[in-house]
Amino acid sequence: MKFHFHDYHPVFEDLQTSVINGLSQSPKQLHPKFFYDEAGSQLFDHICDQVEYYVPDVERDIFESYADEMIACLGEDCHIIEPGAGSSKKIRFLLDRMNPAMYVPMDISAEHLRASAQGLSEDYPILPIHAICVDHTKPYELPTEIPTNKRVFFYPGSSLGNFDPLGAINFLQDLHNKAGEDGALLIGIDTKKPVDVLNRAYNDAAGSTAAFNLNLLKRIQNELDADVNIDGFYHQAFYNTDLGRIEMHLFSREKQSLRVNGKHFHFEAAESIHTENSYKYTVEEFQALAWEAGWKGDKLWQDDKQYFSVHFLKSR
Ligand code: AVI
Repeated sequence: MKFHFHDYHPVFEDLQTSVINGLSQSPKQLHPKFFYDEAGSQLFDHICDQVEYYVPDVERDIFESYADEMIACLGEDCHIIEPGAGSSKKIRFLLDRMNPAMYVPMDISAEHLRASAQGLSEDYPILPIHAICVDHTKPYELPTEIPTNKRVFFYPGSSLGNFDPLGAINFLQDLHNKAGEDGALLIGIDTKKPVDVLNRAYNDAAGSTAAFNLNLLKRIQNELDADVNIDGFYHQAFYNTDLGRIEMHLFSREKQSLRVNGKHFHFEAAESIHTENSYKYTVEEFQALAWEAGWKGDKLWQDDKQYFSVHFLKSR
């Protein structure tokens, strides 16, 4: 079956405006959404191959151990909707084991989405697929072709951790509104754990996370009228215990200036650009957050070490 493509023509926020705004703030910051250009997406795949970055392996193990229970929760006739589906790799695990009534991948990148929807429609020829090109962090409505019943949102990989807690509640609330009364959410959430494990996960020995972080400076250098001494910065990530989050930073090795579009941004030695947060939640903390957004926990699966959690939530 041919897939359907709904193009909402999402507006890409301008890199230059965002960089100038972010570097004008104190402390300086850059928005993590700019990580994911072609090179950045490949670097993220490298991160996922590092032993220190336990997230993909542990989540996959949980899915493999409890696939039958998860599928029983979802129900064969559900309509699975995946915000930020990217290359739709993770959904294949479920599609190989069940026949949902519809799959709805959503992504901001039209090219990426079209290619992955094409691949899925070839591999799962009887599955109805409605791909939506949209920025799922901005207001949007689902197309009328998506049945309003038995909607299950699928949000793996602990991507929720990249929102701040208030942003996470707003996002979960939006999913809840769209899911409807019999709707559900299957979501992967990274948990709190020993600090050294977290710090290693975001400072891998092979330097994949460092390359991913520094790619932001490469983009500024390559895509804008800019002068950046990329070697003058280094990557460091650390767990902020008070705020329950990994923070990623680019630290300046020395006193220096960076120029973007005629503007000069001054750095002291060891001054940083804050590039990403990755919040970690205990099961209780996440369920309280989800409850505020209209969800209630129905099922929970974890690995033996409780490094990761997969939650099945229903509308409350
Ligand atoms: C995509 N997201 C869930 C990753 C995380 O763990 O917060 C992004 C990442 N940044 C560095 N490593 C992985």
